[in-house]
Amino acid sequence: MLPKLPLADGNSMPQLGLGVYQITDQATMDQAVKAAYQTGYRLFDTAQAYQNEAILGQALKNNAIPRNQIFLTTKVAEVNQGYRNTLKSVTASLKRLQTDYLDLLLVHWPIHSQFFATWRAFERLKSEKIVRSIGVSNYHQTHLDYLASQANEQPVVNQIENHPYLSQEPLLAYHRQQQIITQAWNPLGRGVVLQDPVITKIAQQHQRSVAQIILRWHLQRGLAIIPKSKSPQRIAENAAIFDFELNADEMTNIARLNQQQRTGNDPEVVYQIEHQYH
Ligand SMILES: NC(=O)c1ccc[n+]([C@@H]2O[C@H](COP(=O)([O-])OP(=O)(O)OC[C@H]3O[C@@H](n4cnc5c(N)ncnc54)[C@H](OP(=O)(O)O)[C@@H]3O)[C@@H](O)[C@H]2O)c1
Repeated sequence: MLPKLPLADGNSMPQLGLGVYQITDQATMDQAVKAAYQTGYRLFDTAQAYQNEAILGQALKNNAIPRNQIFLTTKVAEVNQGYRNTLKSVTASLKRLQTDYLDLLLVHWPIHSQFFATWRAFERLKSEKIVRSIGVSNYHQTHLDYLASQANEQPVVNQIENHPYLSQEPLLAYHRQQQIITQAWNPLGRGVVLQDPVITKIAQQHQRSVAQIILRWHLQRGLAIIPKSKSPQRIAENAAIFDFELNADEMTNIARLNQQQRTGNDPEVVYQIEHQYH
């Protein structure tokens, strides 16, 4: 049984999950979901914008995975934000995922025009138990503060880009203070960080892969992680990180690699100009 993190609303969430961004055909999804479930993954992370909710729902069926054994996350796309649109789009997501509830629903990116209306719909979905936990994604501290000024329920998760080249320690400290769990997207840095010489050296010393060192670094900082892989071998490799430890010097040496390097959009740009995710 892989570890779970307690959420501020009383629920809990697996610390490790499978991200399924860019998995777009049924056979690949079936194979990835099967490998992940057999390895012990219980969280699957999709989004309306990925256009693969339907094949994820079907893959869970094809692999005969009981709904109550897994934790399902999806995210409301910018185009579906607003009170009525959010409710309507979540009904459609549930249908595509072949389920009647979500474990976690996230606002994919903050956008200024629908900022509070979308969250009111999230609070309603939670009160109706259609969604067990509600959270956000790509929120800066300013967005979290602004949301708190009118929200009845606070987000329990903020899913943000996080890897050794973008460690975002000040935001992580704020999350801890606010009892918000940080879930790292792009935890491996989409390839770039996998070439890093400092991490490569640490990997050689532990006889682990660079990916395993990076994921272990996230775990030891208390983050939740959702590495994406379509390969059964790498899916297993990314979960074999619970039987070794990085020492304090290794943790510090990786933390020093931070260079504020994003692979995705800056959330403030999305907030202001409502640039669509791609
Ligand atoms: N909230 C948001 O705005 C947002 C944005 C982007 C992503 N996400 C979520 O976060 C998940 C993960 O992020 P991501 O997909 O951007 O990046 P990632 O998980 O850091 O990296 C995925 C890439 O690394 C490769 N890879 C995986 N394991 C590896 C290993 N052990 N060794 C070498 N290469 C490996 C994968 O290739 P193979 O598949 O070929 O193994 C893929 O090309 C997504 O799937 C999605 O669910 C959320």
